[in-house]
Amino acid sequence: MALVAGGTKGIGKSFARQYVDHGGCVIIAARDSGMCAAVADELNEGAADPVAWPQAFDLDDVESIDMLIEKAGQRWGKLDTVFGASFFGAGGTAAATDDEMFAKILRLNIVHYSRLAHRALDLLKQSDLASVIFVGSASGVRPQPNIAAYGIAKLGLMRLGQNLAIEWGPLGVRVNILTPGMTRTPAVMRWLPEDDVARRVADFPIRRMADPDEIAAAGIFLASRAAGYMTGHELICDGGRTLLSGNTGPAFQRPD
Ligand SMILES: NC(=O)c1ccc[n+]([C@@H]2O[C@H](COP(=O)([O-])OP(=O)(O)OC[C@H]3O[C@@H](n4cnc5c(N)ncnc54)[C@H](OP(=O)(O)O)[C@@H]3O)[C@@H](O)[C@H]2O)c1
Repeated sequence: MALVAGGTKGIGKSFARQYVDHGGCVIIAARDSGMCAAVADELNEGAADPVAWPQAFDLDDVESIDMLIEKAGQRWGKLDTVFGASFFGAGGTAAATDDEMFAKILRLNIVHYSRLAHRALDLLKQSDLASVIFVGSASGVRPQPNIAAYGIAKLGLMRLGQNLAIEWGPLGVRVNILTPGMTRTPAVMRWLPEDDVARRVADFPIRRMADPDEIAAAGIFLASRAAGYMTGHELICDGGRTLLSGNTGPAFQRPD
């Protein structure tokens, strides 16, 4: 049983689909209630019994985080997996990011994920396969000057995951970080023109963007018994991009 925050699009939606394909049940959580219902309907199509339920929530609203967990508790009384895949970021250097935006980026990528995970802990403790998976970013592995605050936040999220892994290991709850590189999702394709993709990926060892299904599959592994001895791990799925520099802009030079 999985709670998928950001389950209506991109990586979260792929994860939900694959989780159901592996025999699990999911709560699809995001702000747009219509989209949550539509994705749940899609996943329930053809299933003998319901496997997906929608629950609108806003990660920027603590009451709705608490409500989301309450609903999960009422439905199942436990959670095996919490998958954190909502997206919030903004471009700009650190200097160009005003205090309000900086605080919002940190809140939506670290502080409120900490709240969500803590609120879910009692339900996770009821499972013998409990894990939290935070979706990080290659921007947190290597600095990208033009999305500074987002990268700083994702680095912080990674450390949050590691700290929780230490604190919750004795409770039987694993916490890992799934770190994608550039992935073909609505969030990214909003600002990346299709005709710019080839230039942006030209220096990646694997010379293409990821498909969301490829990232989600790594998430399924982290949620599974196959990863039962892994906690506090950052699983980087970035086509080798961060081996080089993490920067794909004009300043980046290929080693050849
Ligand atoms: N795509 C990439 O290249 C890439 C690279 C590195 C890391 N990532 C990370 O991967 C994760 C998934 O990104 P994605 O590219 O799949 O994004 P996406 O396609 O835009 O999907 C984002 C999801 O988050 C939900 N969401 C956004 N704001 C929310 C909020 N305040 N409260 C609750 N839900 C919210 C969205 O639905 P609503 O808008 O209806 O709320 C949607 O379901 C993110 O954590 C992102 O930082 C992505």
